[in-house]
Amino acid sequence: MKANFEPVQEAKRKAALEAVKHVKDGFIVGLGSGSTAAFAIEALGERMKREKLRVMGIPTSYQAFLLAVECGIPITTLDEHPEIDVTIDGADQITPELNLIKGMGAALAREKIVAAASKLNIIIADQQKKVKVLGENNQSVPIEVLPFAISLVKRKIIAAGGKPVLREGKGKLGPVITDNGNAILDANFGEIAKPGELDAKLKMIPGVVETGFFVGLTDIVYLGTSSAVEKIEKIR
Ligand code: A5P
Repeated sequence: MKANFEPVQEAKRKAALEAVKHVKDGFIVGLGSGSTAAFAIEALGERMKREKLRVMGIPTSYQAFLLAVECGIPITTLDEHPEIDVTIDGADQITPELNLIKGMGAALAREKIVAAASKLNIIIADQQKKVKVLGENNQSVPIEVLPFAISLVKRKIIAAGGKPVLREGKGKLGPVITDNGNAILDANFGEIAKPGELDAKLKMIPGVVETGFFVGLTDIVYLGTSSAVEKIEKIR
């Protein structure tokens, strides 16, 4: 187990270091959630101290918020800074077209809002997140749902060809409650040829707050291995 664990962490860290190089003095930075984004938050805090950079962060979750505070990154809000210079975040699956599935950490709604407010979106991950088609390897799409609407949304997802499962907490009985007070349905649709169309269809269901599909939002991906980092840019 350990032999495989450390190279993956190193791959994530290497990708994070590349992404953080994009941050300049005075930038407003979107702070992603998850284990890979955590490396970027730590690296940003270190750069700020070393280079005396003045940067403010907009966290996408309580996890990112708490880590940013610990790393000495001043926090701001979208209300104060509606336009973000760069956001650095992780992903669960990444296609060659730079479409993503996100949300295994249940932070997808704030992550998508922050991404939509950003001039530049950078995704960092280890190579294992690279896929040909979203939904490969039995990957479900996380969907944030108002608790009142869970049964309706489940029925509609089944009608759309998906298999929804209410995400259960670890370390707490009952469902996962997101930072926004909602539930998560993990819906397996198999391989998804047209994620944009499925995303639009799911967003039409009353009670769906957000889906984990990130289509056409990403500008740059850094994919790490334990020894190198591959850069993939959006074709414009
Ligand atoms: C959080 O909800 C997610 O979107 C994460 O960004 C994603 O799950 C990747 O997390 P890891 O970097 O921990 O794999």
